[in-house]
Amino acid sequence: MSPLSVARAALRVYAAGVAVMMAQLLRRCLGGFTEPVFPRQPGRVAIVTGGTEGIGLATCKRLALLEMHVIIAGNDAAKGREVARRIREETGNQKVEFSYCDLASMRSIREFVLTFKEKKLPLHVLINNAGVMMVPQRQTEDGFEEHFGLNYLGHFLLTNLLLDTLRESGRPGRSARVVSMSSATHYVGELALDDLQSRGGYSPHGAYAQSKLALVLFTYHLQGLLAAQGSHVTANVADPGVVDTDLYKHVFWGTRLVKKLFGWLFFKTPDEGAWTSVYAAVTPDLEGVGGRYLYNETDARSLALTYDPHLQQELWARSCQMTGVRDRTRDPFSE
Ligand SMILES: NC(=O)c1ccc[n+]([C@@H]2O[C@H](COP(=O)([O-])OP(=O)(O)OC[C@H]3O[C@@H](n4cnc5c(N)ncnc54)[C@H](OP(=O)(O)O)[C@@H]3O)[C@@H](O)[C@H]2O)c1
Repeated sequence: MSPLSVARAALRVYAAGVAVMMAQLLRRCLGGFTEPVFPRQPGRVAIVTGGTEGIGLATCKRLALLEMHVIIAGNDAAKGREVARRIREETGNQKVEFSYCDLASMRSIREFVLTFKEKKLPLHVLINNAGVMMVPQRQTEDGFEEHFGLNYLGHFLLTNLLLDTLRESGRPGRSARVVSMSSATHYVGELALDDLQSRGGYSPHGAYAQSKLALVLFTYHLQGLLAAQGSHVTANVADPGVVDTDLYKHVFWGTRLVKKLFGWLFFKTPDEGAWTSVYAAVTPDLEGVGGRYLYNETDARSLALTYDPHLQQELWARSCQMTGVRDRTRDPFSE
């Protein structure tokens, strides 16, 4: 990738972010964001990846307040246990626990799923929230570019390994739900099918945007498969807006300074950012509804190419190869 392409990818990502911040500023001036009414969820079980910080932490707290059994999946055991303890204390919900899962390691994801299945719990909600943004070029344990490997492939594998439990837990009129976090950067993302690992040159902005675009394509294809099987599981995308969290720790220092000074004005708080994923996870409005891109708790259109079934299928097939998941869309009858 030429320096010009790297600069272009950065400018496109910044332009997408600024557009969202301006829309958020306008909304604040017109009265701000309104918290949706969420129904109580006793007896329901949720897994939230990256639930130790930012939007994930706010999501876990909100689900705990709604009386869900919440499993925080994260890659820092000491921090995770402390966060779970704090949420139990603050919400009075004792069914909040931490379980180790490093999304940058397929071995760790498989171990997490085995540990979860040993608990013999149902699973009603899976929120694919964990993520990194604009990290320096580095690889996951399995040798994948980190944005693609962690943000996207890690969640692809996790979801596929949990699908049987989700299917068993969904009921007519009370579907199990998969919610995956994307971002406005997907609108400026490009999916380089011949170079998903950015081997031809690295742009941290381009790699982040690609991972968020892949999550949208994955969700739509997954929803198509679930609907075709008549299963009571739905899959939707949540776009939280631009939210004041530590996700920005790797961005240019000038951007961090602007965030520090004006974040209160242009950015959503983590609680506000969590409303979209909590909405996708629990609202009765979305019962049986999947394949949606949710932004500010409403249905929005994602980038046109995300609706291309051939691209969805091709990415799915390659993701199966990379993770060792059997591609049931290509060989539905084999064992
Ligand atoms: N903030 C925004 O403006 C914004 C906008 C659009 C979309 N999003 C998306 O929203 C999601 C949450 O972001 P955030 O803003 O809340 O970021 P954040 O505050 O940085 O939180 C990210 C979470 O992911 C966890 N994580 C990182 N690497 C992991 C790994 N290898 N295994 C397991 N967990 C890992 C982090 O744990 P540690 O802290 O322990 O590493 C943390 O709990 C991300 O998918 C992000 O792309 C955010």
